[in-house]
Formats: sequence, C-alpha cells, structure tokens
Amino acid sequence: MGIRNIVTNEDPILRKKSRVVTEINERIKILAEDLVETMREADGLGLAAPQVGVLRRVAVVQVGEELHVMINPEVKESEGEQLSDEGCLSVPGLAGRVYRPLKVRVSYTRPDGSVAEVESEGLEAVAFCHEIDHLDGILFTDKAEEIKSVHSEDSDEDSDKSSGEDADEAGDKSVGEEDKLSDGVSEEGERREL
Ligand code: NI
Repeated sequence: MGIRNIVTNEDPILRKKSRVVTEINERIKILAEDLVETMREADGLGLAAPQVGVLRRVAVVQVGEELHVMINPEVKESEGEQLSDEGCLSVPGLAGRVYRPLKVRVSYTRPDGSVAEVESEGLEAVAFCHEIDHLDGILFTDKAEEIKSVHSEDSDEDSDKSSGEDADEAGDKSVGEEDKLSDGVSEEGERREL
C-alpha cells in the first residue's frame, strides 16, 4: 500500500464510469489513504480512484489547508462560471482552459462514514468538478476550449525544438527552464494538476 501508479490517457480505464461505494470497508479506506499519498507525491491538487486504476467513486482534493477525502462525491448545486487553466496528472504534457462553475456545493461521505457538505469557490471548486468528472470517465481535454502542449518538468526531450517566440535571447540564467515551469502553473504560481 502507499503510493500507487497513476495511469495515463492511453488507459481505457480513465473512460469508464466508476461504481458507487455501498460499503466503506478496509479496502476503500486504504484506497482513500493511498490516493492522498499519491496525490501529495505527485504534487497534485486532486486525484480520483480511476487514475490509479480503481473504478470506485472515491477522490481526494486538497487546494488549501483542508483535505477532502471523498466517497461518492456529488455536485449538489453550482453557480456562476470561471475559465480555469487545468492540467491533469493522467494527461501529462497537456494543459487547457475549461469553463467551470465559479461556486459549487458538494456533498460526500468521509471514510469514517460521516457526511460532509462543502461550499467552495475558485480553484477548489474547479478541483471538485475535475475529480468528479474523472469518476464519470470525463477528462478535462473533453471540455477544454483550447489545449496546448506543455513541457513536463522532467523531460528535456522537447528542448531542442522549443520555438523561440517568447524566449528572449538574453543571456540571463536558465530562461528556458523558467518558461517551462511557468507553463505548468497558474499566474499565481499555483500548481493546477488535478
Ligand atoms: Ni485529472
């Protein structure tokens, strides 16, 4: 147990609908713990069970202080609209802009069986919607207005053909490196891999 492998979009499991959890048994609790660990290890803001190959309605979100460990999460109400910059741990190398509700009210069951009702807005609302989409086999690329490829932090394979459009030639240190990183994060420097 612990950190699990994150499957990527070649895996058909990401396109399937996850089953409702009817009993919170030990396997579900371990799955929930592992999702938290795996999300943190991957430096993501959220993670859903299908992303580790399990078709059960379990997902985790942590945007700020509060960690949400969610069994059978549902959006009960939504309001407004925001255009969010998103990436996904299961769709490496791509980012897109997606219309999401500005505010949502989400309910879910915690691993201890208690029910949570959460009102959320901004990036956390985006994260809830993105993870619940995963439980229905939907990826952000299905909804994105525009999709662009971004450099993943570890790969330098594209560095040779990085178009010089923004990259000023200035000899300042590691301009290219900084450009790459800024692609994966929002203007505020938050990571948006969900
Ligand atoms: Ni995702």
